[in-house]
Amino acid sequence: MLDLSFINERLTSESKFYNKIYYFDSIDSTNSEGMVNNYPYFSVIIAKTQTSGKGRSGRVWYSTVPENIYLSFIMPPFHTEKLLPLNILTAYSIVEGLKSIIDLRIKWPNDLVVNKKKIGGILLESKFLGNKLEKVVVGVGLNVNQEFFDNSLEKIATSIFIETNLKQNISEIACNIIVSFEIFFQQFLKNSIDIIEKWCNYSENLGKQIKIHINGDKKTFTEKGITEQGELLVLDENGFEKKIISGDIDL
Ligand code: BTN
Repeated sequence: MLDLSFINERLTSESKFYNKIYYFDSIDSTNSEGMVNNYPYFSVIIAKTQTSGKGRSGRVWYSTVPENIYLSFIMPPFHTEKLLPLNILTAYSIVEGLKSIIDLRIKWPNDLVVNKKKIGGILLESKFLGNKLEKVVVGVGLNVNQEFFDNSLEKIATSIFIETNLKQNISEIACNIIVSFEIFFQQFLKNSIDIIEKWCNYSENLGKQIKIHINGDKKTFTEKGITEQGELLVLDENGFEKKIISGDIDL
């Protein structure tokens, strides 16, 4: 179970976020809460469960298991062309924050995977005032101590427990994610992070054949890497290079 006093105590020494953590036993969605209501920048909204958890591309994020992580960071505005890189950096920060516990890989742009199964995901939502970015809500869902998945999900989803057979202290996992995200976000603001080099270390599919769903079509490519802007660099079946800015890759 999430232990707020544990989180506050650890973050007091390690993070600037620590005194701005908002906790809910149950909420519709930590992302929706962060989008709709006014929270100070650098707040963290964390919930034990969500009743309407949101995934990418309008999908549902099942959020009934209190032993998983559901949290959102409220971030200040920055240049909109950095939204895609931030998606990817958030994934890096989670991989690095959890590397002493589990070896995660990233499927573009920001699915967290282990053994070809999804273990976590990231949903960035931006709020604009006119054409000015007002805030960015970075939502993180991570399957931690979930023991099994229903038939429909069991082939594609996993948790840290299923992969390692060890139960985790989810408050500690939450702290690792928060502290690591803060470090990466600071580097991101200073432009001092080489996202391409990190992609080579963390990509699930680098150099492999991938199938991407684009506008209802499914096409085969070979993954070559990413660009500074966070686009996925691929080769099509005729060997021509393409940059992908949106789409879903099969696991
Ligand atoms: C994905 O589809 O991969 C993204 C999943 C993001 C889920 C998290 S859980 C916390 C936050 N609140 C939400 O409603 N969604 C994100």
